[in-house]
Amino acid sequence: MSNRCALVTGGAGFIGSHVVDALIGDGWRVVIVDDLSTGDARRVADEATLEVVDITERAALESVFQAVRPAAVFHLAAQSSVTRSVADPERDCEINVRGTLNVLAGATQHGAPVVFTSTGGALYGNDAPLPTSEDALPAPISPYGASKWAGEAYVVTWREATGNPHAVCRLGNVYGPRQSPHGEAGVVAIFSHSLWRGESPTLFGFGKPTRDYVHVHDVARALLSAVGQAGVFNISTGIETAVSRIFELLRDAAAANVQGELAPLRAGELERSCLDPSRAYEQFGWRAEIGLEEGLAATYEALTAEFEPDRPPESG
Ligand SMILES: NC(=O)c1ccc[n+]([C@@H]2O[C@H](COP(=O)([O-])OP(=O)(O)OC[C@H]3O[C@@H](n4cnc5c(N)ncnc54)[C@H](O)[C@@H]3O)[C@@H](O)[C@H]2O)c1
Repeated sequence: MSNRCALVTGGAGFIGSHVVDALIGDGWRVVIVDDLSTGDARRVADEATLEVVDITERAALESVFQAVRPAAVFHLAAQSSVTRSVADPERDCEINVRGTLNVLAGATQHGAPVVFTSTGGALYGNDAPLPTSEDALPAPISPYGASKWAGEAYVVTWREATGNPHAVCRLGNVYGPRQSPHGEAGVVAIFSHSLWRGESPTLFGFGKPTRDYVHVHDVARALLSAVGQAGVFNISTGIETAVSRIFELLRDAAAANVQGELAPLRAGELERSCLDPSRAYEQFGWRAEIGLEEGLAATYEALTAEFEPDRPPESG
């Protein structure tokens, strides 16, 4: 057993729990900091230690850092709902900015590099050239995009000030097992849930909006490879896919023949999003390996197995 210990904030969340699994697979000891606000302790691997702590509670977080003395920090804990950020921008800021400062303070004390998960989709605006490179000027259109950008700025500033090689990873649209179908985003999980129930999902923007869909296993691998890599990196495929195509592929996986309900784009949603991932490949040799058809079919199977315990009892 290795003595390297990683601290993963948000490790009971969708992406964080896969990062925890990948670290354990690589021989790391793992301690998770998560307040379980959207996370679920059932996602956490038995080998990891879960500390139920709010990252905005500086003293409590500091105690965890003191006890763990991490060799690397993966900072995924966040308020990650655009709608909630609009309804309560103060709390969004508290978690995504103040919480990030608290994590940076702990990492600085132990000389640990931080890998920070930011957003590609909510950062670059509607006018960015596609596929968008990391050099495009951010133009967020929600408090969530603004708070993640501010968090990034602190990570980069702390890197300059301390010489710690912190990495900012701007993720595309992440999909895969353990994604909740009950959020506002996560279209793969939402469509899978509808198809599993035999219902028609809503295709906002009449199915036309495009996104850069990247499998969570590829993302976890990217975040592990980014340890010690100073810089800002898009973690994505560079491939633009319409939401109608996602629906068709999942419908094939489900062997269903329902039609989607078409509806206009919701306020604050981008029409197109696609991120250029070449910098991550050039700097640390990462690129996405899981193709969309293969990834969606496997995800549909995994998600429906997760939904199964919640199946409503048959009537009659
Ligand atoms: N899912 C995506 O497509 C996507 C895209 C871009 C960026 N991201 C970023 O990736 C990260 C993980 O996102 P996710 O999709 O796994 O979301 P998630 O909601 O499943 O995970 C976030 C985790 O953070 C925890 N958390 C929230 N506030 C906390 C606090 N104050 N203290 C401690 N823990 C707290 C939650 O309980 C949850 O377990 C976030 O930083 C998000 O901004 C996600």
